[in-house]
Amino acid sequence: MLYSAAVAFPEERPRRLRSTPRLRSLVRETRLGPESLIYPLFVVPGRGVRKPISSLPGCFHLSADEAAREAREVEDLGIAGVILFGLPEHKDPRGSEAWAEDGVVQQAVRAIRSECRDLLVCTDVCLCEYTSHGHCGVVESGAVLNDPTLELLARMAVSHAAAGAHMVAPSDMMDGRIGAVRKALDARSFSEIAILSYAAKYASAFYGPFREAADSAPQFGDRTGYQMDPANVREALREVRLDVEEGADIVMVKPALPYLDVIRAVRQAVDRPVAAYNVSGEYAMVKAAAERGWVDERRIVKETLTSIRRAGADVILTYHAKDFARWT
Ligand code: PBG
Repeated sequence: MLYSAAVAFPEERPRRLRSTPRLRSLVRETRLGPESLIYPLFVVPGRGVRKPISSLPGCFHLSADEAAREAREVEDLGIAGVILFGLPEHKDPRGSEAWAEDGVVQQAVRAIRSECRDLLVCTDVCLCEYTSHGHCGVVESGAVLNDPTLELLARMAVSHAAAGAHMVAPSDMMDGRIGAVRKALDARSFSEIAILSYAAKYASAFYGPFREAADSAPQFGDRTGYQMDPANVREALREVRLDVEEGADIVMVKPALPYLDVIRAVRQAVDRPVAAYNVSGEYAMVKAAAERGWVDERRIVKETLTSIRRAGADVILTYHAKDFARWT
């Protein structure tokens, strides 16, 4: 049927369906609105703090009270939710502020939950912002240890749930952490709290601006011993399968744009919702080029987010969320 004997032109004229805005909209295959987006927030200690983040123009370091205000604005824009990253008062080798009851993220979760009606509050679960060495796990003799890290991540996730998070998002890439987090949540009667797993997270240069914003760059070495090799896609499917088996409710691919093929492969492989993280480096490049007048920011953002959606992402985490919501 696709390959009929008839020569296509002049019978076939695809341009017919491109002639007016209504026609184009009628046959559009991919739609994206703010209800599919999650906006990252960086929370810091203190009160009344709203400090621009130089590596992420348009984003701020926010104290809990300011984060609540920001979250209210995000909710009013129709955006699905926020994901919180914390910059603690003090770092130590085990990252113990990560699970403190009055930690920055825990305070911000409570403030946002009391300010917003139904905005989804997600939290990033990873130690790198809290550890003095900047790695995502426990370090001993220069090695990032897998199994001893699991208990700390589980504690962190439980403390976020206790503060009122709807969804926790482990981003550390330790083996077995989804199962450990699920088990710990269930044991504390948080069985309704969802897990958004950073399932296929690559060791990417695109995290640069985030590490400046979150003060989370590793103090020695890099993350290639736990994050994935950018060259691999079969391995992504394995990571995703394991996380689903361990109890992930949503699986994420990160970064997004350089990994659209991975998003597509994951979409085809699992029956869970798929998320993609349009990361800091992807955002910063657009901002930098737009500032110089080299690209049309609105069109670039729309095209970019649509492409991530078209590849198969149901959910997109992006720093563009507020702008996108205002523009559409
Ligand atoms: C924590 C974490 C990182 C990001 C999200 N969670 C940084 C990293 O792995 O080094 C990156 C997000 C971004 O670049 O926007 N592990």
